Amino acid sequence: MKEQTYKLLDGKATSAQIKQEIAAEVAARVAAGKKAPHLVAILVGHDGGSETYVAAKIKTCAEVGFRSSLIRFEDDVTEERLLSEIERLNNDPEVHGFIVQLPLPKHINEQRIIEAVNPSKDVDGFHPINVGRMSIGLPCFVSATPQGIIELLRRYNIETRGKHCVVLGRSNIVGKPMAQLLLHKGTPGDCTVTVCHSRTPNIKELCLQADIIVAALGVPEFLKADMVRPGAVIVDVGTTRVPDASRKSGFKLTGDVAFDEVAPLTSYITPVPGGVGPMTIISLMLNTLAAAKQAED
Ligand code: GUN
Repeated sequence: MKEQTYKLLDGKATSAQIKQEIAAEVAARVAAGKKAPHLVAILVGHDGGSETYVAAKIKTCAEVGFRSSLIRFEDDVTEERLLSEIERLNNDPEVHGFIVQLPLPKHINEQRIIEAVNPSKDVDGFHPINVGRMSIGLPCFVSATPQGIIELLRRYNIETRGKHCVVLGRSNIVGKPMAQLLLHKGTPGDCTVTVCHSRTPNIKELCLQADIIVAALGVPEFLKADMVRPGAVIVDVGTTRVPDASRKSGFKLTGDVAFDEVAPLTSYITPVPGGVGPMTIISLMLNTLAAAKQAED
């Protein structure tokens, strides 16, 4: 099969650019006497991945001039205690947006927690009000990962109109909203969308018909070269920690795409790390800025 030169969809560089844009806007707002946006993160327990993600979110807040607060609970915290903290944040005018890092311990009803967050402060875009508004194209907070992918496609001028996009994965956070956003009228958008999941029998055949593939299954190196048509655009959402004794951390962050064999076939592809991850964090920052503007302007 003929190989072609591919280009990286560089989420790290793109997010650094957007970071500068946000920082400039925040500085101008603060100079005009407005409050800096304030993001609060609730972290329950000590899951390694969640610790890393929340630390990255807090660090990025500082880089763009936001205020941030981290509220920690041990993993035996009760649902009632979490709900009362959420109520307090809903009513605190100093807090523009907040997130509850997922997953939560088994004894806590995640959906109940999500629905307790005031939709106007739900910068994760997980509340059914925001999900519903997103699905019919109304202004709302959109889940950060699919929104970040849309922004990456926009900034690289990837043609999506009329393209066949295969989304691998049907999670509420990534797969479903990704499919909706690609389906919307506009740019990026106007795709024909197929959503595949663990019960789809002919994933390989469907992937081979795709112009764009968004891989969000959480299965390391699931997408192989024989599933990709030459010239396709590949977006890798996977971030599984695969044990690797040669690394200081003891693991390697591994995507859902077998990068080395797939990349040479593609026109554009996201790396892991440095692709979707940084775009997710920057989307959360954009949502928080929007929440602050809605509250303060
Ligand atoms: N867990 C995995 N992704 C996310 C996210 O975007 N937000 C929150 N709150 N938890 C997550």
